[in-house]
Amino acid sequence: MNIYELQTPSFLLNLDILETNLKKVQRLCSENNKELWPMSKTHKSSYIAKLQKEYGAKGFLVGTIDEAEVFVSAGLDNICLAYPIVSRANIRRVIDLAKKARIILSFDGEDGAKLFNDELEKENLTIEYLIIINCGLNRLGVLPNDSSTLAKKISNYSNLKLIGISTHPGQVYSVLSGNEICKVSKQESQSLKIAKDNLISNSFNIAMVATGSTPTFFDAVADPNIDILRPGNYPFYDNIQLSLNVCQEKECSLTVLATIISKPKDDLFIIDVGSKCLGLDKGAHASNLINGFGKIKGHDELEVISLSEEVGKIKICSNTNLKIGDKVQIIPNHSCSCANMTDYIIGFRNDIVEKIINIDVRGNSIKPNLI
Ligand SMILES: Cc1ncc(COP(=O)(O)O)c(C=O)c1O
Repeated sequence: MNIYELQTPSFLLNLDILETNLKKVQRLCSENNKELWPMSKTHKSSYIAKLQKEYGAKGFLVGTIDEAEVFVSAGLDNICLAYPIVSRANIRRVIDLAKKARIILSFDGEDGAKLFNDELEKENLTIEYLIIINCGLNRLGVLPNDSSTLAKKISNYSNLKLIGISTHPGQVYSVLSGNEICKVSKQESQSLKIAKDNLISNSFNIAMVATGSTPTFFDAVADPNIDILRPGNYPFYDNIQLSLNVCQEKECSLTVLATIISKPKDDLFIIDVGSKCLGLDKGAHASNLINGFGKIKGHDELEVISLSEEVGKIKICSNTNLKIGDKVQIIPNHSCSCANMTDYIIGFRNDIVEKIINIDVRGNSIKPNLI
């Protein structure tokens, strides 16, 4: 079946582009002797995670315990939780997983570590952890020079074993042009170096220095201060990465297929895709570079100017050959949020549908037991 015969909206994944993106990032890691542990929150799909592993990924960084649970049941190992887990119910879920696979925790404070350690003691189980370093995003993490102070405090908890440090330079999404990305890459690298030196000079053994963001990946991959790369967005890329010149339109693999359903004015189309497919995301961490709510593939004369829930407005900025009934592919502003809107994506090659890929790692997989 040709993709243009599909119902709309449909979430489409160009498999050739996906595989090229996965292989390129893996090749750069391998050439630079780095390990790739992709962040899986972008695709939330065990099919794509398994492809990443097949191409050489050594582990995964997950944003939620749901992701970790699905991956472990899919036979994937080496799962690092990106954020501190502190509620008892969540700790219990992670402990259950740690009995089946290698799980690595992330902490940025003593209190969270203590709560986890209390539960681990009951099980007589030890889990490895990373200290989260704040390299400028000012979200989670300790300042680089405070890393050994925290490591000393957590060393009192004998069921937690420090193995390394990690950071996420998410402030890169607020730069004003792609040229400024390298400044953020320097912050990322320097912060990790300072933190590692601080820990080593205080006799801590640091085997893993991990970081990740798609925009800084291409600098970080050659950086001697870094061992493990954890980009997330690169399988799909999107309009945010386009606006930062991180990728080209031909590298964007995820699109939403829409039909033009009306032309109320000479310069306006209405499509049957709205915010419930594309999201109203204009970019993480205060990006100012994005105009509109998506990029229509191959049609620079069109701009997605606004979205209602189920329909969208397209401004016709200059001559177009499109008319009512035609279909267009829209690259979402933020592919991570877009993929999270659907249960499945339709994989295709050369415009021919090949397979359905389930987004099987989406939130709230485990319903609470109310009895
Ligand atoms: C801790 C952490 N690491 C890595 C990533 C991946 O970054 P990107 O989406 O730029 O690839 C994220 C993204 O949210 C993150 O929070």
